[in-house]
Amino acid sequence: MELLHRFVVFLVLFMAFGMSQSYGSARRLHSALWRGGGAAMTKYQTIVVDQSGNGNYTTIQAAIDAIPTNNMQWICVYVKEGTYNEQVKIPMDKPMIYLKGAGKRKTNVVWDSHKIIEHDATFSCEADEIVVKSMTFINSYNYPLSNNNNKIESALAAKITGDKSAFYRVGFMGVQDTLWDSRGRHYFKLCSIRGAVDFIMGSGQSIYERCTVSVIAGFLAPQPGFITAQSRDNANHPGGFVFKDCNVVGNGTAYLGRPWRGFARVLFYNSTLTNVVVPKGWLEGDFLKSTMDDLVFAEDGCRGEGANTSGRAYWEKKMSKDEVRRLTSMSYIDEEGWMKNQAFNMLSS
Ligand SMILES: *[C@@H]1O[C@H](CO)[C@@H](O)[C@H](O)[C@H]1NC(C)=O
Ligand SMILES: *[C@@H]1O[C@H](CO)[C@@H](O)[C@H](O)[C@H]1NC(C)=O
Ligand SMILES: *[C@@H]1O[C@H](CO)[C@@H](O)[C@H](O)[C@H]1NC(C)=O
Ligand SMILES: *[C@@H]1O[C@H](CO)[C@@H](O)[C@H](O)[C@H]1NC(C)=O
Repeated sequence: MELLHRFVVFLVLFMAFGMSQSYGSARRLHSALWRGGGAAMTKYQTIVVDQSGNGNYTTIQAAIDAIPTNNMQWICVYVKEGTYNEQVKIPMDKPMIYLKGAGKRKTNVVWDSHKIIEHDATFSCEADEIVVKSMTFINSYNYPLSNNNNKIESALAAKITGDKSAFYRVGFMGVQDTLWDSRGRHYFKLCSIRGAVDFIMGSGQSIYERCTVSVIAGFLAPQPGFITAQSRDNANHPGGFVFKDCNVVGNGTAYLGRPWRGFARVLFYNSTLTNVVVPKGWLEGDFLKSTMDDLVFAEDGCRGEGANTSGRAYWEKKMSKDEVRRLTSMSYIDEEGWMKNQAFNMLSS
């Protein structure tokens, strides 16, 4: 009986798969097949956002609004090429959304809110289990620097507060507080993050792999900018920013980071640091009862003119090989294998 039941289920799945294959291009456009880690083939629906009116919606937010709350199946929002002038929010109760653009330079989301970090992000990502790919979020309040006269203020491109979220080939552009990697476990791969002051901040537990960290602090000269402002606030908090095989480039100069809270943790591993990085590397802060000994700022195996550690802050940590291995392994953010079951992943390239 049990066996027969399984066979019927298999047969139904097999037939459904066959049908979706043979229904022609129109149907295939709106559903794609994906292979979850070890799981059976599953389909996800795709909602198309197209400014010219040839999709399901003309704004990204309208597409997200149309997804039912407590969504429990992967659903793709495909955003065609274009510049979308809107603030986008995936609320906490809409997990399992795969937001996909036409390319990092082709699909841009632009908004210019500023000053109130809780509300000003161009993209707010509050739900768990979100995948974003091939698009760029810009906060245009101060960016690009060349064509505006606004006073430099906190102006976020993105705020990420959900857990288990991955970002592939995503751009984050701003000047101050560009990316608020606020909390949760996150994976950033082949992303570009640009800014001048504290532009990767928060207490997220994240790996940034093969990302470009682009400093635009030239306008501050001779003052340096700050790449990270990590905000881990106690010694047992699992958070920390790990930059693995990244490139730090740009104009002006910048510290690798300064603490936003007293137990800030940041590691640059096997990355190229150009001469935008100041010799001291890190700037101390004074936070509550913590001391410089509580900060975990470290580098391992980096190269480039900015990687010369002879002038570094004396309190930079020398991390053990075991700890470097632990923090740079995928298990640091993905012990249970959530990433391989997502609608899209890029784990092995
Ligand atoms: C999107 O539009 C297509 C084509 O008009 C339609 O078949 C599909 O049902 C729509 N999907 C949603 C989620 O509205
Ligand atoms: C730094 O680079 C950015 C981006 O390319 C550019 O807009 C800005 O003008 C540059 N600043 C200086 C001082 O060169
Ligand atoms: C270090 O980074 C380089 C360049 O991205 C890469 O080719 C190499 O495999 C990395 N090495 C290790 C040990 O991760
Ligand atoms: C590192 O910097 C120190 C001090 O500026 C300098 O003496 C040394 O030659 C540099 N090392 C390399 C490998 O460039």
